[in-house]
Amino acid sequence: MEYETPLFFHVMEYADRAETDVIDMVSGNPDWEPPEALRTGLHEFADADPGRFQYPPSDGLVELRAEIADRRGVDIDQVVITNGAGEANYLAMARAMERNRGSEILLTEPVYPYYPGKTTMLGGTQRFVPTDETGQLDPADVRAAASDETAAIVVNSPNNPTGAVYPEETVRELVAIADAYDAILISDEVYDHFDLSGQFSSALGVDSDHRIVTNSFSKSLAITGFRVGYAIFPPELVANARSRHMLVNVAGSRPAQYAVLHALRETDPDYYRRNRELLRERVETFTDALDAAGAAYTTPQGAFYVMARFEGYPGTLANIEQLIDEIGVAGMPGDAFGDSRSDWLRFALVTPRVEEAAERLAQYFD
Ligand SMILES: Cc1ncc(COP(=O)(O)O)c(C=O)c1O
Repeated sequence: MEYETPLFFHVMEYADRAETDVIDMVSGNPDWEPPEALRTGLHEFADADPGRFQYPPSDGLVELRAEIADRRGVDIDQVVITNGAGEANYLAMARAMERNRGSEILLTEPVYPYYPGKTTMLGGTQRFVPTDETGQLDPADVRAAASDETAAIVVNSPNNPTGAVYPEETVRELVAIADAYDAILISDEVYDHFDLSGQFSSALGVDSDHRIVTNSFSKSLAITGFRVGYAIFPPELVANARSRHMLVNVAGSRPAQYAVLHALRETDPDYYRRNRELLRERVETFTDALDAAGAAYTTPQGAFYVMARFEGYPGTLANIEQLIDEIGVAGMPGDAFGDSRSDWLRFALVTPRVEEAAERLAQYFD
């Protein structure tokens, strides 16, 4: 059996190989600085005693787990440090599947493509619940799709790729549906620091033994290459997840966790606010330029992405490659996120050159 692997790395490599100047808006790799304390922590670690270069505890540095537990208002035993939110989502989905309460996983459409990939890899079946044109999810549709076969409902807010931020009522309802069907709500909150709407609501705010929250420092500290994330499990579900994490990874990376801990302790909230404001300005600049080009687009309430649609130019891989070759603008094909967005292209606002990119697009489609 062959697994479906998401297209991100393919498009990034294609853009890298291009001989022309390419504005890279493919993937959610922040182009801004990590906090100063992240670098200091890493420098400090380099000079540590060699004993500190050996295995950390499998489920992560105790001080880091304690820091997260404290910030999130949960018990330290519920926290497992993972290899990014990628592994956190995998552990959560695997944990939901092994409860043997069904093998169907409810996903939204459009979807972050790693979720259907993981579903298939775990032997589950996918069922998609459509979101509206702004990316909002109607809990009534989720309830209608849920059944005794539902093992998990996987949601992501602020959302990649739509930019939707789910209001508190939606999150509350999603947890209630998981409770009612003895399924697990998996809430991927990696963009929680990039809520431009002020509406973000964490699933941790709704008490339940049927929800797992996943997160990471990839985006909030601008370190997608460090691979530090975490999952917060209900107490009864954590043991197996911890074992799976150990069997797959042995442990995570100690230097990366050390630097993250240092950064969490020393970084002022202003760091996060500045990055959010930077993103807000880029959204405005990029969408203003798309407006001028007469393109349709989404205005994100959060996360890093704007979707744009140009008449007669669907969001296929071939079209994305053509834009890289002809105008040096690299995005992602909308159809990578599901059929509902196959007319759209997704652009990650992780470059200072968003205006130039929009101008190149405007000129090309003029
Ligand atoms: C919705 C979502 N979840 C998870 C991830 C992966 O995060 P990490 O780098 O922490 O594995 C991403 C990365 O873009 C994402 O957009």
